[in-house]
Amino acid sequence: MKFPEYRPRRLRRTEALRALIRETSLSPRHLIYPLFVVPGKGIKEPIDAMPGCYHLSVDMVVEEAKEVLDLGIYAVLLFGLPEKKDSKGSHAWLKSGVVQNAVSAIKRAVPELIVVTDVCLCGYTSHGHCGVISNGQIDNDATLKLLSKVALSHAEAGADIVAPSDMMDGRVGAIRKTLDRNGFDQVPILSYAVKYASSFYGPFREAAECAPQFGDRRSYQMDPANAREGLREAMLDAEEGADILMVKPAMPYLDIIHLLRQECKLPIAAYQVSGEYSMIKAASSKGWIDETRVMEESLIGIRRAGADIIITYFAKDLARGSNLR
Ligand code: PBG
Repeated sequence: MKFPEYRPRRLRRTEALRALIRETSLSPRHLIYPLFVVPGKGIKEPIDAMPGCYHLSVDMVVEEAKEVLDLGIYAVLLFGLPEKKDSKGSHAWLKSGVVQNAVSAIKRAVPELIVVTDVCLCGYTSHGHCGVISNGQIDNDATLKLLSKVALSHAEAGADIVAPSDMMDGRVGAIRKTLDRNGFDQVPILSYAVKYASSFYGPFREAAECAPQFGDRRSYQMDPANAREGLREAMLDAEEGADILMVKPAMPYLDIIHLLRQECKLPIAAYQVSGEYSMIKAASSKGWIDETRVMEESLIGIRRAGADIIITYFAKDLARGSNLR
C-alpha cells in the first residue's frame, strides 16, 4: 500500500468516518473519581493546589457520590484526613474512622456506586511515611500487620475494593490472607503495583496532608528510571493475589502501561495523579491550552497505552462535557 493508491486522508474526511475507524474509546465508565474525606459536618473546602477538588465531610461526600453516579461514573476512591495522627497511624483502622464512616454512609445512600478505599498509613502517621519506623528505618514486616488491619476495617465498613498504595513488600499477600480469613474473599485488591517515587504527587500531599516529615519515599516507591523492575513488582503482586494492577503516575509512564498490558492478563488501572491534573488546570487558567481538549487527549492516550481503568480528578469534567464515547 503506497501513495497514490493509498491515501490515509480518505478516512479522515468527516467526523462520521473518523468515528467509524476510531480504535480507542473513553467513557465515564472507565473512570474512578478520587475524593478526600475530612472529619466534621457540612464541610466543602476547596483544595488550593487542585482546582475543582474539595475536602468533604462525610455528609457532603454522600452528596458528591450521588452526583458522581448520576454522571455515569461507577466508582470513587476514598482518601481520609484523620482527626489525629500518631507514630503508627492508628486512626487508619478505627472502626468509625473518617474513611470507614464515609464508606458505610455512601453504601447506604448509593449502594450501586463502587467504593474503592486507599489503604496506606502516610495520611495517618505523624512522620508522614507509609510504614512504621523502627531505628530510623521503615519497618516493612511490622507495617504489613497494620496495613492488613486497615484493609479489614475498610472491608468491614462495606468497601467494594481495597487499594494498597504503600509499596511495602508482601502487602498484597498479607491483605489477601487477612480478608479471606475474615470472610471477605469476595473483596478485590486493586494494587498500586508499579508506583514511582514521583514529584507529580506534590499537590496531593498538600490535599492529603501527607508529605514525609523527614527524608523521602525512595526506599519504598520505585526509581523513575526503571521499567523491568516495574514488571517484577507487577508480577509479584499478581502472584500474591492482586485482582487489578495499577501504574502510577500515568502520563510520564505510558511505556510501563503498554509493557504491562503485553505481559499480564489482569485488568490494568492507571492513576493520572494530582500533578498531572493541576498542570493542565494551571496552563488552561492562563489561557495557554484548551482544557477540555487536553484533558481528553491525555485520557485517551492513557487508554491507548493499555489502561482499562483510569483514576483521574477529571472524571466529572469528562463525564459532563466530552464528545469521546
Ligand atoms: C499515599 C498516596 C499518594 C498518592 C496516592 N496515594 C501520595 C504519595 O505516595 O506520596 C498520590 C496521588 C496523587 O498525587 O494524585 N501513599
